[in-house]
Amino acid sequence: FIRTSGQQLLAGRTVLVSAGGTREAIDPVRYIGNRSSGKMGYALARAARALGAQVTLVTTAPLPDPSGIATVRVESAAQMQQEMTDRFATSDITLMAAAVADFAPAEVAKHKIKKQPDTTGLDLQLQKTPDILASLGKRKRSDQFLLGFAAETDDLLKNASAKLAAKGADMFAANDVSNPAIGFGSDNNRVTLLTKDEDPLQLETASKDDLALNILKQIAIKLRDN
Ligand code: CTP
Ligand code: CA
Repeated sequence: FIRTSGQQLLAGRTVLVSAGGTREAIDPVRYIGNRSSGKMGYALARAARALGAQVTLVTTAPLPDPSGIATVRVESAAQMQQEMTDRFATSDITLMAAAVADFAPAEVAKHKIKKQPDTTGLDLQLQKTPDILASLGKRKRSDQFLLGFAAETDDLLKNASAKLAAKGADMFAANDVSNPAIGFGSDNNRVTLLTKDEDPLQLETASKDDLALNILKQIAIKLRDN
C-alpha cells in the first residue's frame, strides 16, 4: 500500500507515535503488562511515513524497527511519558496509540521477590501512572494535532467522547474491544473517529495498515482545512 498510496499528504510534517503496552516492573524479573500488540501504532507510523512525514515511534512492542522511522524503545509509562514529552513540541501530529498501564507498583523490589513454604500470598501496592495524553493535551498549541485511542467494551461512543473532552485531544479513535475479530492482537480493526465539532465518522473495517492510512488521511484533511 506504500507504493500505491501516491499522494504525499504529510510531506514536511513531523509525526510522533506511541505504540504497545507498557510494562510496569514489580521486581527485576517480573512486570505488570497488558495485551496490546503494538500493531496499530506501527501501522500508523508506517502509514505516516508513506504519506511523506518524518516519523518518530516510541514503542514498548517486541517488533522490529520499521525502516525509515526513528524508533525509541521504552518499557514503562514513566519512560514513555519522558520520551513523548521531550519530542512533543516539535511534532505536528501526535498519535497516542499505546496502551499505557493505568497503575504501576508503588515500589519496585530491588531483588527478586521470593516465596517461602509458608507464604500464602502477596500484596502489591499500585499507584496511578501519569496520564501522558492528558499532559500532552495541556501543552498542545493550536498548530498541533493530537489523537487518542479508546478501547472500550461498553458504551463505546459515550466513553470515548468523555475522554476526548477530558484529555484535550483533537480526535479520538474509538474501538470496540468486546469483539475479538477486531482490536487487540488482531490484524483487522474498526474504529469510529470522534472530534469536538463533527458527527462521529465510522471508518470501514480494514487491515490495520489500511485503517492507519485512512485515519491519517482524515487528519491531513483536517489540518489542511484549518
Ligand atoms: N493514556 C495515556 N496515559 C495513561 C492512560 C491512558 O496517555 N496513563 C492514553 C492512551 O494512550 C489512549 C487514551 O489515553 O490514547 C485513552 O486510554 P484509555 O485506557 O482508553 O483511557 P483511560 O483514561 O486510561 O480510562 P480507562 O482505562 O479507565 O477507561
Ligand atoms: Ca486505561
